Amino acid sequence: MSSKWTRRQFVKTTGTAAGALVLGGAFAEFLAACASSSPTTSGSGSLEIFSWWTAGGEADGLAEMFKIYQQKYPGVKIVNAAVAGGAGSNAKAVLATRMQGGKPPDSFQVHAGQELISTWVKADKMEPITSIWNSEGWDSVIPKDLKTIVSKGSDVWSVPVNVHRGNALWVNLAKAGSSITPGAGNNLDAFLSALGKAKSAGIQAPLALGSKGNWQVTMLLENNIVAVGGADFYRGLFNGKSSWTDNNVKSALTYIKSMLNYVNSDHTTIDWDQAAGRVQAGTSVGTIMGDWAKGYFTANNWKPDTDFTGIASPGTEKTYMIVCDTFGLPKGAPDRDNAINWIKVCGSEAGQAAFNPKKGSIPARTDVPASIFDSIAQKFIAEFKTDSLTPSIAHGSAAPEAFASGVNDEMGQFVQKKDVNASASNIAKLADQYLK
Ligand code: GAL
Repeated sequence: MSSKWTRRQFVKTTGTAAGALVLGGAFAEFLAACASSSPTTSGSGSLEIFSWWTAGGEADGLAEMFKIYQQKYPGVKIVNAAVAGGAGSNAKAVLATRMQGGKPPDSFQVHAGQELISTWVKADKMEPITSIWNSEGWDSVIPKDLKTIVSKGSDVWSVPVNVHRGNALWVNLAKAGSSITPGAGNNLDAFLSALGKAKSAGIQAPLALGSKGNWQVTMLLENNIVAVGGADFYRGLFNGKSSWTDNNVKSALTYIKSMLNYVNSDHTTIDWDQAAGRVQAGTSVGTIMGDWAKGYFTANNWKPDTDFTGIASPGTEKTYMIVCDTFGLPKGAPDRDNAINWIKVCGSEAGQAAFNPKKGSIPARTDVPASIFDSIAQKFIAEFKTDSLTPSIAHGSAAPEAFASGVNDEMGQFVQKKDVNASASNIAKLADQYLK
């Protein structure tokens, strides 16, 4: 389908290449060595962590990291400031108000790539964490490509805690039967015909969708663009090599329009986790969602590859749509020392080993043993190493916030009006405005 994308190309697309890392790294290490003479550990006060992890799986992963922090720093009171709403649909606005008002949390969840760099770093609201990165030795355990997308200039601005796969199809194995099977899900036409069969067999909404907040439809768009145009075409949309007016974009929208014939009619009122719940209940056969859905299923006692399975979403095999959660240090963090220790836990092997199996993601660190993960995550860990990497629009890596939220709004219009030409043209206008 598409040629393999080198790690370098991934980094280029996210637009955050840290040019002077080699030279700057040595200098930063020197500075870190100077700074580390003053210990930062503090076992008192509080630690406020801001995220949108409130659903099954994601909340459990966060709780695991809190446990590890608490064991190390029992005197610190952890304040969980999570704001519900998948993909930060509510949290991001709350965070923006707090940051602008000079009331940052001690640390907050932020996606690697543009969401971090062209929002918070650009606005000069973050402290670099370069010295922590160096003193913790993360160069030897976190892939350089991930480091680069959290870097700008000669500094590193946050630590990746995981890698999620945005292009995934989850199916209820008991319901899939001859309707949706992983094999049939490998291309969009076969997938649509499987959905058609399931519907004829009496399942009204074989494809569960929770589109509250619209970002879930942006995920369908980015996945379908990869499916119809290939990973190179998709990446080209962000480096000027592909055009947003290309027919591939229209074709991706047309496939979403067809999928909408098979989704639950209340999709605009429910979020991703409720859609996952419909798959588990058997009301629907499958859902297209990031692997935080796996976290949801396992948190609800479903067994991977027994009760459900997960594969690349239709037509996107050999591509890994990257969604990378990170934590950084906002300027003016009220409990700065505690925040620094939190960042260290996030980047640690123990932290990532505790967090990721529950969260549904794979670790950012390469030394967390694959054996502690379920069979689907093990498959994803292997695929991540060889697949072509594409940055997600919906989850902040590929494009600035203004573009992502503009596309989300447009996709909200699209599910109502289903006007392929109008939406394609509006998205192309957004690209002209924000990606040039
Ligand atoms: C993403 C985030 C994931 C997951 C998901 C649903 O933006 O990166 O960690 O939480 O939203 O809330």
